[in-house]
Amino acid sequence: MAAKILEVKNLVKNFSGNKVVDNVSFSLENGTITAVIGPNGAGKTTLYKLISGQLLPTSGTIELKGKKITGLAPHQIVKAGIGRSFQITSVFEGLTVKQNVRVAIAARVGQQFDLWHSLEGNRRLNRSVTEILAAVGILDLADILVRNLSYGERALVEIAIVLACKPSLILLDEPTAGMSHVETTRVVKLIKDLQQKTRATFLMTEHDMEVVFNLAENIIVMSRGKILAAGQPEEIRNNSDVRRAYLGTA
Ligand SMILES: Nc1ncnc2c1ncn2[C@@H]1O[C@H](COP(=O)(O)OP(=O)(O)OP(=O)(O)O)[C@@H](O)[C@H]1O
Ligand SMILES: [Mg+2]
Repeated sequence: MAAKILEVKNLVKNFSGNKVVDNVSFSLENGTITAVIGPNGAGKTTLYKLISGQLLPTSGTIELKGKKITGLAPHQIVKAGIGRSFQITSVFEGLTVKQNVRVAIAARVGQQFDLWHSLEGNRRLNRSVTEILAAVGILDLADILVRNLSYGERALVEIAIVLACKPSLILLDEPTAGMSHVETTRVVKLIKDLQQKTRATFLMTEHDMEVVFNLAENIIVMSRGKILAAGQPEEIRNNSDVRRAYLGTA
């Protein structure tokens, strides 16, 4: 039995009396890929924002590696080990891919600014940047300005920036949204590779069922703020409540 990395207990988020996340509890095992699925408005992105600290829960707790993170600021949650993809706009348009990843690493190492001024420090930094770009498969884009990248390439840069924080849990909100079939296939392969290489845990929301069933070892189905079902892909595929929620005949 693998160790639990994330434990969410009785999480509630109210928006003007409306329970958008309604008493949600689940846990994630170390090193696994879990997909949160459900119809539009089910509360998936809200759940993701609660875990990453962008929103404060109305009630309930979130623990990362046994430590309560509820109430921490987003940057503290990143420090605690949760990496998340930001909106595309937070990538610096006027910097190269390499420079963007450098900035992200600098944000992690924070005060250790002598890192920048020593030759050895600089070498180490360059090595880390190269390692991350290689892991994401975008070494060939290193010197290209982000503003000149395609949509799919930017998404890969975002993943590289997430990795720069050395997260043990990676949150991805619809990582393949708006992508072509070729780009989607590339991202699916990348997430599988990263799971092997980094041994990180992944929690992703996704509408593309082909992606979900290709990647996820566990699936959590949300509907109207509640967990409707949770389990392995085969159980979810055959669950009549889930089928009903998706067909809208519930
Ligand atoms: N800041 C907010 N204030 C009020 N209501 C909100 C806010 N954010 C989200 N909601 C509402 O909460 C519900 C859940 O939204 P959420 O974005 O979490 O759904 P989702 O499952 O991610 O949907 P989608 O699949 O479309 O991305 C929706 O009804 C939405 O309108
Ligand atoms: Mg959403």
